[in-house]
Amino acid sequence: MKLAGKVAIVTGAATGIGRAIAIGMAKAGAAVVIDYVGDQALAMNVVNQIQAAGAKASAIAADVSNPEQVASLIQQTVQTMGKLDILVNNAGLEYKRPFTEYPFELWQKVIAVDLTGPFLCAQAAAKAMIAHGGGGRIINISSVHEDLPMVTNAPYCAAKGGLRMLMRTIAVELAPHKITVNNIAPGAIFTPIDKDVESNPAMEHQLMAEIPLGRWGKPEEVADLAIFLASDLAGYCTGGTFFIDGGMLRQAGSL
Ligand code: BGC
Repeated sequence: MKLAGKVAIVTGAATGIGRAIAIGMAKAGAAVVIDYVGDQALAMNVVNQIQAAGAKASAIAADVSNPEQVASLIQQTVQTMGKLDILVNNAGLEYKRPFTEYPFELWQKVIAVDLTGPFLCAQAAAKAMIAHGGGGRIINISSVHEDLPMVTNAPYCAAKGGLRMLMRTIAVELAPHKITVNNIAPGAIFTPIDKDVESNPAMEHQLMAEIPLGRWGKPEEVADLAIFLASDLAGYCTGGTFFIDGGMLRQAGSL
């Protein structure tokens, strides 16, 4: 069990990649806090699945872009689980609109959840980890779009690009505390964030043509990478982005 005795928070863990990471980390031995916003039934479904398998889990509602709710998420975790070893900044959203028509309010929302959220959660988590003195792991679920432009998705790309430099900077600042910070940058993973493409055969065909491996990634494949980065096996990895994209980045622009 790679994560035996560890305590993890996964933000946005009711669905998609976050859900797979929460379940995967619990299977690897961690006690897991499922952070969610909105649909409590979906979050409880993840908790129940983990508990049925004999592991420890609980659900806490917290909007990652709200400083008070983030403080309470970290505080409740430390209170109920005793400490915090692993933070997975997974919560994220995107709205695709042409740049010249992009509403300011939507820009603010994307930046708030996809960039300010990881800042707030990492800051509160790092303080708890430093106070406990046992080091820690911060893993951000970024995107190939921390590096690759995506038309109609400017705020998302800006947030993910920002997340890359946030990660690199705090990796250096937190290294003396034995806290590692890394990004996982997924390509096209089959989750609800891509339901517009998944339900449109022409768009799906076009997307698959951009991926050398020719298929969607599975949330569980991203979870396996997160478990590795959270484990002792990855003790010397910090400040890096780990791409998991079926080769998408290497092929971009070559079609
Ligand atoms: C985006 C998806 C997109 C994928 C590959 C992800 O970060 O959320 O909408 O399909 O990157 O481009």
